[in-house]
Amino acid sequence: MDKLLIEGGASLRGEVRISGAKNCALPLMAASLLAGGKHTFRNVPRLRDITTMGSLLAHMGAVCEHGAMLEIDTSDIHTLTAPYELVKTMRASVLVLGPMLARHRRARVSLPGGCAIGARPINLHLKALEQMGVEIVLEHGYVVGEAKRLRGAPIRFDQVTVTGTENIMMAACLADGVTVLENAAREPEIVALADYLVRMGAQIEGAGTHEITITGVPELYPANCEVIPDRIEAGTYLAAAAITGGWLRLKGLRQEHIQSIVTKVVDAGVRVESGADYVDVRGNGRIGSVDMETQPYPGFPTDMQAQFMALMTLGDGVSVIKESIFENRFMHVLEMERMGADIHLDGRTAIVRGVKKLSGAPVMATDLRASASLVLAALAAEGITEINRIYHLDRGYEAIEKKLSAVGARIERVSGRGE
Ligand code: EPU
Repeated sequence: MDKLLIEGGASLRGEVRISGAKNCALPLMAASLLAGGKHTFRNVPRLRDITTMGSLLAHMGAVCEHGAMLEIDTSDIHTLTAPYELVKTMRASVLVLGPMLARHRRARVSLPGGCAIGARPINLHLKALEQMGVEIVLEHGYVVGEAKRLRGAPIRFDQVTVTGTENIMMAACLADGVTVLENAAREPEIVALADYLVRMGAQIEGAGTHEITITGVPELYPANCEVIPDRIEAGTYLAAAAITGGWLRLKGLRQEHIQSIVTKVVDAGVRVESGADYVDVRGNGRIGSVDMETQPYPGFPTDMQAQFMALMTLGDGVSVIKESIFENRFMHVLEMERMGADIHLDGRTAIVRGVKKLSGAPVMATDLRASASLVLAALAAEGITEINRIYHLDRGYEAIEKKLSAVGARIERVSGRGE
């Protein structure tokens, strides 16, 4: 298994181009199941999760080619099953459920099961589908859904769910009548998906607000679009500049998507300046401790909580970090403590007392964002940090060691066997 060796202490300097967002590309790929034919996506990042979704679609009969663009031909879908082997490696596989039911009125999708960041059930997806007339049974670890016809319905999510909103929005596009989604997620990835569905011929209003109205149409058609920039990758590089007291120019991002992250790092004393097509970040070597609570968009993203905590480990006081989205997204804390961080956990709250320095140590990556936070801590730590199990990072950060070494980080990927 590959690992990363990082020698901390180098202050980063230079330009980083932000890649397309995995969490935008994945639902777009699933949406290709809604209309037979060739769909074309630009700016798709080269990541393990994208390959996994490609394998899942290929298993179902699609032909995927990822060259300069990602082309998915869904003319010949013959298998309506998402098998355990693929779903267990990537929960977002559940995004094929809505499209399959909408177009083929039958689907068999493995239940995702446990996950490193919390229980993460899909009950809200299933309840909404039942309200739309889908009969759902759970058998042999699979969700089996069947419907004669999907019908539009008023649906209120008890909790804001990103992939839940995406799944039901896709299902509703081909349902009879009108679906109104209340308490819908408002993430930019939802808006991007709605834009693509509209290009395919769907009728959707209100994406990006709490209430989305979808009027079903009889048929959709293949189309093409560009994946939006990855706001979490952008936030991670922002934190990298801040934690190393360096200067980075981030290009290719959408500034309006990272507002909540920028606000927090500015509160922490980091200078952020925006140009027409870039954002400059300058750390000054001193990090102010600030409190933070994760919230659905436009609040501070849970996918940046671990990286922000890495920054706060070197803060000049005490920072209280509350994780409101997932109940168990603190797996990075123990690893950071091994590097000298002072963190006290109390349920969903972490109290982070800033320390003068972190020290390099062998650590283990536990999930995607936890891994990114360990990279950040390692960039600032004294000595060498060895980060194991970096396959998590490869799921969601395109060419991370290349991008970081191009701006002066001392980082090396070592291929190896075992852990
Ligand atoms: N929830 C339920 N029941 C459901 C669905 C969600 O109880 O049926 C709960 C979850 O357990 C969680 C909360 O609702 O406590 C919110 O979960 P949500 O459904 O919004 O998460 P998700 O759609 O599974 C997406 C991203 C995650 C990101 C979350 C929150 C994709 C493919 N994944 O997951 O991204 O953390 O939204 O913003 O879009 C990542 O990229 O590292 C990642 C984990």
